[in-house]
Amino acid sequence: MVGVDQVLSKLATVIDPDLKKDIVSMGMIKDLELNEGNLKFTLELTTPACPFNDEIEQDVRRAIAELDGIKNSDIKVTAKVMEGRALDADQAMATVKNIIGVASGKGGVGKSTVSLNLALALAESGAKVGLLDADIYGPSIPLMLGMQKAFMEVDNNKLQPAELNGIKVVSFGFFAEQEHQAAIYRGPIISGILKQFLVDTNWSDLDYLIVDLPPGTGDIPLTLAQTIPITGILVVTTPQDVASNVASKAIGMFTKLNVPLIGVIENMSYFICPKCSDKHYIFGEGGARRISEKFNMQFLGEIPLNSGIMEGSDKGKPVIITSPDSPSANAIRSAAKNVAAQCSILAAKLKDEMQGAAA
Ligand SMILES: Nc1ncnc2c1ncn2[C@@H]1O[C@H](COP(=O)(O)OP(=O)(O)OP(=O)(O)O)[C@@H](O)[C@H]1O
Ligand SMILES: [Mg+2]
Repeated sequence: MVGVDQVLSKLATVIDPDLKKDIVSMGMIKDLELNEGNLKFTLELTTPACPFNDEIEQDVRRAIAELDGIKNSDIKVTAKVMEGRALDADQAMATVKNIIGVASGKGGVGKSTVSLNLALALAESGAKVGLLDADIYGPSIPLMLGMQKAFMEVDNNKLQPAELNGIKVVSFGFFAEQEHQAAIYRGPIISGILKQFLVDTNWSDLDYLIVDLPPGTGDIPLTLAQTIPITGILVVTTPQDVASNVASKAIGMFTKLNVPLIGVIENMSYFICPKCSDKHYIFGEGGARRISEKFNMQFLGEIPLNSGIMEGSDKGKPVIITSPDSPSANAIRSAAKNVAAQCSILAAKLKDEMQGAAA
């Protein structure tokens, strides 16, 4: 009769393609019961948005089918996002498993557009997601979500995020009367506001908090890097950035501060011809890939230049919601899965480091 050990060693032949480790040692098999050939367990994936979730599940089912003596198998598949940051470092944000800063070298590359659509794509996959608009000088998320009138309340000395389309949103733009004065605030005040948005907000349980940063290497990106441990920085570039090398400065700053780099997304990469559906790389191809290789980061996806994306941003109707089946939405979804996968990889690395330090 087949035993639990045999089942586990068979399951241990299934390797998570991202984490490059077997699913048993990664603790992804839970609540295993075996009763006279009746097998029951839960496969707990590391994120609902993993690009390989279907593949892992199929490998698990195949492995079980190859075992002799299993009469019935009842496999429940769930996902529990891994902690990509040291949660005990700051009590105030101990319920936020991953913080992803979205940065760029220069302005206007589409950080806010990418941050918002990424947040929506991750939420759509089943993750609990927050979006912090950290562009205190020029908050654009409220407009992009059509949420200009969403005011945040303060309850028990904690800011309550606004909620829309399943994501929790905090933006300086919600303080309508202050919005127009933002440009005159000096560095320390700006840093203070960001700190409050981070640690004095009732984020509750979040799998991913996306932080949309202003461009460059100013006070806000610096404050994010130095206030709390974050999972890492996601760099958004456009094909033109490669020539002007502007992304390098921002990447260099985060590297110096020992903040992990999640990877690069190239925005406005290509244009899809509405007549022939071909991709046209009008600004040249492969720029973000070259940046990712230069800085030893992952290349996580390319998003087309598309009027639907622009209108979505400018009219408060994000493309992932208004045109969920469009090539643009699919490109964003694919990038979101790669971002989630990288967060799991960074989380696994962190877990190893913490276990190593404790041993
Ligand atoms: N893939 C895209 N296709 C077409 N238009 C886009 C795309 N991405 C962004 N845009 C448009 O480009 C403009 C700048 O985008 P966005 O505000 O997201 O950039 P940003 O990097 O956040 O800018 P800032 O540095 O000012 O914060 C917006 O009008 C937006 O609608
Ligand atoms: Mg922006």
